[in-house]
Amino acid sequence: MKIAFAGKGGTGKTTLASMMVRLLAEDKRRVLAVDADPNSNLARSLGFPQAREIKPIVEMKGLIYERMGIKQDPKGSFYKLNPKIDDIPEKFVKKRSGVNLIVMGTVDAGGSGCVCPESTFLRELLKHLVLNHGEDIVMDMEAGIEHLGRSTAASMDCLLAVVEPTLASVETGMCVRKLAEDLKIKTLFIGNKVREGQDEDWLHEKLGSDSMVGIVSYYDAMRDIDRGGSIMDLAGDEKPLLQVKGIKEKLLSRS
Ligand SMILES: Nc1ncnc2c1ncn2[C@@H]1O[C@H](COP(=O)(O)OP(=O)(O)OP(=O)(O)O)[C@@H](O)[C@H]1O
Ligand SMILES: [Mg+2]
Repeated sequence: MKIAFAGKGGTGKTTLASMMVRLLAEDKRRVLAVDADPNSNLARSLGFPQAREIKPIVEMKGLIYERMGIKQDPKGSFYKLNPKIDDIPEKFVKKRSGVNLIVMGTVDAGGSGCVCPESTFLRELLKHLVLNHGEDIVMDMEAGIEHLGRSTAASMDCLLAVVEPTLASVETGMCVRKLAEDLKIKTLFIGNKVREGQDEDWLHEKLGSDSMVGIVSYYDAMRDIDRGGSIMDLAGDEKPLLQVKGIKEKLLSRS
């Protein structure tokens, strides 16, 4: 299974991606969690110790410039389009409780398709991870998905756009789907923080039931995770985890 979570800030991408990673690891599948968010916090959500100290690869300028064949100032210089990447996963992947994690970070390309060396490097790294590894990939992204090149996108099962039952969140979800369409990658929506009552109907009406792969209820105890816990601490029968499990089964039966 190769999937990426995208969507508006704060909708629950990291939370749901962590649950998915945990569940796939519990199924004894080989799973690589990829943090491609500018504000990386997948490590903490997955309970990695010293999560704050993990440096995103995008910040390793020396490494990137060396691999891209750039001397010092990247501005205006030429660089390689096929940097050496194959040793990067083994050097930077962190392992814990059957979960592998790589923290890439991202470059703010402002939707412009930035061609800076960092951006090219991340794009090549993602391609390598998605194309070359016989393992599940769960990516935590932001709303911008410009680091997914066409060949990477072609190897992904789908993009999961996380939406809350608010108009702003749904509109961002629609934008994500538009970007994904250009890459010929299918988008499925997950409604998150859904409360009893009309939330679910409203989301179905806005997004169309065929595009929705599941919903996750508003869950009060998420507050405890925000105060220093991790998704790994949740009991296996907690409602949101069971709901994400349902989504996982649906996705596995599609692929
Ligand atoms: N189902 C839920 N019920 C209640 N709170 C939730 C739920 N899912 C996520 N949250 C809370 O919403 C907040 C944002 O979640 P999260 O960090 O996963 O979002 P995000 O989309 O990754 O945000 P960012 O864009 O900042 O990376 C967190 O406080 C999290 O605990
Ligand atoms: Mg996040």
